[in-house]
Amino acid sequence: MNTICILGGGGFVGSHLVAKLAKTGVAILIPGRRRIDLRALDVLPTITTVEADIHDPATLDSLFKGVDVVINLVGILHGTRAEFEQAHCELPTQVVAACRAAGVKRLLHMSALGASVDSASVYQQTKARGEAIVLAAIDLNVTVFRPSVIFGPDDHFLNLFAKILKLTKILPLANPNARLQPVHLDDVTRAFAVAINDPTTFGQVYTLCGNDVFSLEDLVRLTAKKLGLKRAILPLGEGASYAMAMVMEWLPGPKIMTRDNHYALQTDNVAPEGTVINRFGPPLSLGANLDYLRHEDSRSIYALYRCHARR
Ligand SMILES: NC(=O)c1ccc[n+]([C@@H]2O[C@H](COP(=O)([O-])OP(=O)(O)OC[C@H]3O[C@@H](n4cnc5c(N)ncnc54)[C@H](OP(=O)(O)O)[C@@H]3O)[C@@H](O)[C@H]2O)c1
Repeated sequence: MNTICILGGGGFVGSHLVAKLAKTGVAILIPGRRRIDLRALDVLPTITTVEADIHDPATLDSLFKGVDVVINLVGILHGTRAEFEQAHCELPTQVVAACRAAGVKRLLHMSALGASVDSASVYQQTKARGEAIVLAAIDLNVTVFRPSVIFGPDDHFLNLFAKILKLTKILPLANPNARLQPVHLDDVTRAFAVAINDPTTFGQVYTLCGNDVFSLEDLVRLTAKKLGLKRAILPLGEGASYAMAMVMEWLPGPKIMTRDNHYALQTDNVAPEGTVINRFGPPLSLGANLDYLRHEDSRSIYALYRCHARR
């Protein structure tokens, strides 16, 4: 294995996975929508970043030439049905076709725990269809990963609650009873790194979860505690949670929550009974690994202000 192409390599999971793989000396190609967003990765040895439209089949074919492994991390949490379809279904179709055209035999694909065509959430429906598309490519050596919510430095989840908790004394919380089994970023990147060269993972789907199940309310309270903040957290009922998701969906600016997220949270995001959760090593505990919340750059709170002010 000489060269890996990582789609979505500039994102939260992607940039940490790239850093881990770069230490092995492997060559990594990272196409992105805006090369400027990939600048931080350029400093790592053996990494090439390139601005490219990965939805263009000819571009994808040429990106995959000479590549040994493709990792697809592209995903969105908020969007229109068409945007979910494009990111989670059309792109995997094009990735499979481009792997065949370029002779790439190994494909690792990021899905999500709870992906199901029966889900009320378009995110979860399209993630399920994306999985099915790549797993149907039996001529490729495909591995699919289904993480629960991922925590760790730079995460979009607990860091978001941390920012909100710093801004407000009272936090009305939608879907407080939603159950989640968060997995540490290092466990997720380790699973990908180990699986790349492990033939026993070919054709397999892996659930990635931590050891412990939390309610969303537990996680927000833990975040406040870690930050040393005394906050009133007001758990909302079903109707109020839906209304809050609807209002937040309509607010201008980057989305924090939408009705689609609300639908996804109606189903427990926990490992199905009997899942082996230490296939790639014992998962890190959430309680003992939240220090990053305190070390977060204090100026990042201004980023949230700027984002709401649309500047
Ligand atoms: N984070 C979690 O808790 C979690 C849990 C379960 C599953 N996952 C899955 O894990 C994967 C990585 O998540 P993440 O947290 O690292 O997300 P992220 O930080 O938002 O990164 C997503 C990456 O995908 C790219 N991307 C998104 N839409 C695209 C499009 N239409 N065309 C081209 N590139 C596109 C983004 O590029 P830009 O930078 O150009 O936007 C970014 O590089 C996703 O598939 C996500 O669904 C994440």
